[in-house]
Amino acid sequence: MQITSKELRQKWISFYEGKGHVDIGAVSLIGDGSTGVMFNVAGMQPLMPYLLGKPHPSGKKRLCNVQGCMRTVDIDSVGDASHFTFFEMMGNWSLGDYFKKEKTAWTFELLTQVFGLDKNRLCVTVFEGNDSVPRDSETAEYLKTLGIAEEHIFYLPKEDNWWELEGTVGTPCGPDNEWFYPLDGAKENPVFPDDYVEIGNDVYMQYKKTAAGYEPLQNKNVDTGFGFDRMLLFLNGLSDGYKTDLFLPVIQKLEVLSGKRYDEGGAAQRAMRIIADHTRTTVLLIGDEQGILPSNTGSGYILRRIMRRAIRYCKSLGISSDAMLSVAKIFIENVYDEAFPNLKQKETYILEEIAKEAERFESTLAQGMKEFEKCVNGLERKNAFMASDPNYRRETVIGGKQAFRLYDTYGFPLELTQELAEEKGLTVDVAGFNEAFKEHQEKSRVLPTGQFKGGLESHSERATAYHTATHLLNAALKQVLSPECNQKGSNITDERMRFDFNFPRPMTPEEIAAVEKLVNEKIAEDLPVVYREMSLEEARAERFVGVFDNKYGDVVKTYSIGEFSKEMCGGPHAERTGALGKFRIVKEQSSSSGIRRIKAVLE
Ligand code: ALA
Repeated sequence: MQITSKELRQKWISFYEGKGHVDIGAVSLIGDGSTGVMFNVAGMQPLMPYLLGKPHPSGKKRLCNVQGCMRTVDIDSVGDASHFTFFEMMGNWSLGDYFKKEKTAWTFELLTQVFGLDKNRLCVTVFEGNDSVPRDSETAEYLKTLGIAEEHIFYLPKEDNWWELEGTVGTPCGPDNEWFYPLDGAKENPVFPDDYVEIGNDVYMQYKKTAAGYEPLQNKNVDTGFGFDRMLLFLNGLSDGYKTDLFLPVIQKLEVLSGKRYDEGGAAQRAMRIIADHTRTTVLLIGDEQGILPSNTGSGYILRRIMRRAIRYCKSLGISSDAMLSVAKIFIENVYDEAFPNLKQKETYILEEIAKEAERFESTLAQGMKEFEKCVNGLERKNAFMASDPNYRRETVIGGKQAFRLYDTYGFPLELTQELAEEKGLTVDVAGFNEAFKEHQEKSRVLPTGQFKGGLESHSERATAYHTATHLLNAALKQVLSPECNQKGSNITDERMRFDFNFPRPMTPEEIAAVEKLVNEKIAEDLPVVYREMSLEEARAERFVGVFDNKYGDVVKTYSIGEFSKEMCGGPHAERTGALGKFRIVKEQSSSSGIRRIKAVLE
């Protein structure tokens, strides 16, 4: 069957709307921090509170959407036909409403009636059961009633038929069915699972993961996830993910720009795939409603890695990084114009930010590559020189200090150096890199207080450090006490800060300790304090805090400290949090009705 990406999204939604579901739309790709992950990795992730029992704001129990997700664990595998950093998940949910009977029937109906799959070729896997959860014979019975042959139903253990977000306690989870179909063009009598592809799964989320094991949930939920990109590929009878309409126009553009042909395979094909995948993710992250920018920490660092990897592959393809701009435009204007209309609104901003990062990196890339070659040549010379010594073992590790120099001076993310090393059959001393990194951080941290008094730092610099500390404190109070807490006033001298905020009761000693700890952690991370001017609308969309008394269309000044603090503010601020010293709360008291006052010092 021929089906476009836009048609597929629409077919999914209209099918489930027809079954009484409401389309809840997609949320930001950036995690809200509640689960400790930086990005949304599954369609169910934003729905966790509702799967655990909280009523959904829509008031409905049947939900569906197509949600963007990011999985960055194998960025390095991108370049083959099937690994991507971004994908969409088609999902639908029952929050304590319908269960196994309806779900199996609907998935079956969708696959056979809407997508025209042959029911005699479908295979389904079912949870075989273990000590804590019984075998899911009920689902198997429903499948048989629908017409799926017994020999096409496979009972598999927890490794295969249980779904949960890895490493997280308190999250909903449960046994699942996975739906399989033979790959297009497979043999007459395909063998399961070798000749099959998994097209999606229905999870029966009736458990909560606890530290000790699993606890039944009050609600019997359903969580369905069908990989959008994979389904698109499969339905169109394709096997290379870059041949669907999500990528085809981009690949064609890269062919024109480079004068090379994608189908020739080899290095050029790999470079085109990396540029295409990474530019798509870049566009979606910068253009996201909670958009991020490349930086040296957290999600910003992942974005930087992705962008710089793409820029490097532009070079290897023999084209300038301007190619990323042409590619970005295609994604924004043609491919994702309907699914992510916010991209179009932020188009100029996205393109400018890509150009800025490209400029930053290109100014040092060539020099850095020379430096890298020097490291490799050094190793090779040494190896050649020592080759006659029978006891000598070839050296294949690039030193940690050298990798750090590439990072610090030439902006090479560690992973980029590792990838370059791998291409030469070498590795990088990561422990040594981390050590050099730490050493550098310690050196650049401001000296202890006693020495400020000796006049090493001017009074205004001290007050500036206190000003930055008020931002950290404001963010920490929101995190530790309540997101409702906000700054109501502050007063700074060279010796101390005073900070007023709304909160209805005195803080407990534990809360004070937790706030101090959090602020000091952020100081120890030596985060850059980043200044940006933006429109009021952007500041609002990016969730900067502050007093929104500006007029529509105004440009506002903002400061962000990693992902931790985002405030509208006129400055000035320390360049990095490492310059602050140790933060200590000296007193917490009432200031006026509903307003508390903290006195704190930097030591
Ligand atoms: N949560 C399930 C998945 O992501 C549906 O595959």
